[in-house]
Amino acid sequence: MDHGLPDDYTVDTAVALAVRAPSVHNSQPWQWRSGDRTLHLYADRTRLLPGTDPDGRDLILSCGAALHHLRVGFAALGWRAEVHRLPNPAEPDHLASIELHRHEPTHHDIALAAAIPRRRTDRRRHSSWSVPTGHLETLARHAADEGTILRPALDAARYHLARAITAAAETHAGDPAYRTELAAWSGRHTAPDGVPSANAPAQDDTPGALPARAFADPLLRQPEHAPGDNDDTVLLVLSTASDDTMSRLRAGEATSAVLLTATSLGLATSPLTEPLEIADTRAKVRDLVTGGTFPQMVLRTGWAPVNADPLPATPRRALADVLAPLGTPLSAEPRYQSH
Ligand SMILES: Cc1cc2nc3c(=O)[nH]c(=O)nc-3n(C[C@H](O)[C@H](O)[C@H](O)COP(=O)(O)O)c2cc1C
Repeated sequence: MDHGLPDDYTVDTAVALAVRAPSVHNSQPWQWRSGDRTLHLYADRTRLLPGTDPDGRDLILSCGAALHHLRVGFAALGWRAEVHRLPNPAEPDHLASIELHRHEPTHHDIALAAAIPRRRTDRRRHSSWSVPTGHLETLARHAADEGTILRPALDAARYHLARAITAAAETHAGDPAYRTELAAWSGRHTAPDGVPSANAPAQDDTPGALPARAFADPLLRQPEHAPGDNDDTVLLVLSTASDDTMSRLRAGEATSAVLLTATSLGLATSPLTEPLEIADTRAKVRDLVTGGTFPQMVLRTGWAPVNADPLPATPRRALADVLAPLGTPLSAEPRYQSH
């Protein structure tokens, strides 16, 4: 980029931070295009997961998370991102165009950016230490700043959410299209996308543990825990007032804001969207958990046990595969079977 705008090194660095964002099955369904004065985010529909995410909600959430990671990266590099979301109604996959303005990084910008390379989806059980209410309030404030609602599911809401999580896992277990797709996108060892075996634990056999997504070939060990040392996981539900592409994009940005803030507080986190991928269980979560607002994301958070091994970072595709000059066409080849 020219004209006193970020140089190519800065743009590459910010996009490299953006693509560290979480995405459903690590599908990385985004493309970036760089113009003279602007940067653009596109949804990459070739990476849609029809068996898991039939209406493409997780895909837009994933792109929203990458957009927020980009904003955070640029802010720490001294550039404020002015984001125009869905700038062209005739081109619905053009999710954002981004203009950049010089700015002085704050301590907060730097703390969030420093959390990007440290964040992991940690699906293992948590310790019995409770998460302070002040931390949960901080997370809710960051979600609200992105135009969304974040609440812990407590008491009856938690009961209904746990039932929806269990029911969704059962429905998915009996759905061959879902299972085939999940097997194709997980159990990986060296691929630049998909969920590696090293990041997927076997199902937690502790009584009362919630079912987790049944990734192929799970090799991650659960940390040892003392008998009676219950997992004090908090289930946070992020919801929006409406359910259009803009709301989902904002929900993805909020997901990133919450995950990076939680990481900077030292918390372990894991997104969990199975109950929201099936119309029936999502409707139940909406009626019984989020008070009629549209549930977009469930986040497990808690303290990792002190004896939990550090998790490896999941891989990402090369920058050259996702960042190109403006005008470079998006690929049309489905990547569903890629390994
Ligand atoms: C929209 C969305 C939905 C996700 N759903 C789940 C889920 O249901 N279960 C799960 O274990 N991980 C889920 N994840 C986490 C991804 O699998 C994870 O981000 C990806 O494998 C990359 O790993 P990382 O987050 O450690 O970088 C989800 C992430 C996103 C953004």
